[in-house]
Amino acid sequence: ERTYYITRHGQSEYNLLGKIGGDSGISANGTEYARRLAKFAKEKIGTKTVIDKETGKEIQKKVPARLWTSTLCRTKETAQFIEHEEFEAEWDNGDKSLWVQFRQNERRNLDEIYAGTCDGMTYKEIEETYPEEFAARQEDKLSYRYPRGESYMDMTLRLEPLAHDLERSREPLLIIAHQGIHRILYAYFMGLTREEAPYVKIPLNHIIILKPHAYGCHEERVCLMP
Ligand code: F6P
Repeated sequence: ERTYYITRHGQSEYNLLGKIGGDSGISANGTEYARRLAKFAKEKIGTKTVIDKETGKEIQKKVPARLWTSTLCRTKETAQFIEHEEFEAEWDNGDKSLWVQFRQNERRNLDEIYAGTCDGMTYKEIEETYPEEFAARQEDKLSYRYPRGESYMDMTLRLEPLAHDLERSREPLLIIAHQGIHRILYAYFMGLTREEAPYVKIPLNHIIILKPHAYGCHEERVCLMP
């Protein structure tokens, strides 16, 4: 059974200012989230409780797990406390091999929607400076493309190759990315329409756990801090 853990980066300096896009670092609050996420990753994703064959007792066993981030500072900083360590992994068929748990894999197609000319502005500034653009986006959020930037549709297309890799990954996978990106990934797993995707709620400080099965996808949300 495949399990995906998707989360936004911890609160960024731009989140605090209400600015979109950019490449700011995380705030003190975001750093606290990063610490909690590392604990969660180690204990809940990278460890499994199994019965020891010799003693019959429950033991904690380290299991293979993957980590993907975008190429932006805020997701890499959110991953900073997650330990990546080589260990001897034991597979279901009894084979053993070396595996680097949570080896950080940066993917450009996980970068947030690029807002072009509006990058680094607040929604209020966009509304005041480019009222027609602001209105057009409200009219059709899926196809609206920021001047010199991207639309949700553009992001959907650039995420397609990644969806292929997602399906292939057998090990639990933690993806630290962004609000817009996770809306699309979430819609993909949950079978929502492209039109619904731009409105999915992906709050900060939560991990969304997705387990695809034959008839759909099971979802659980864990809040690591208020
Ligand atoms: O505000 C955080 C953020 O990730 C921005 O960088 C991005 O432009 C925005 O969310 C995407 O959300 P929406 O499509 O609702 O503007």
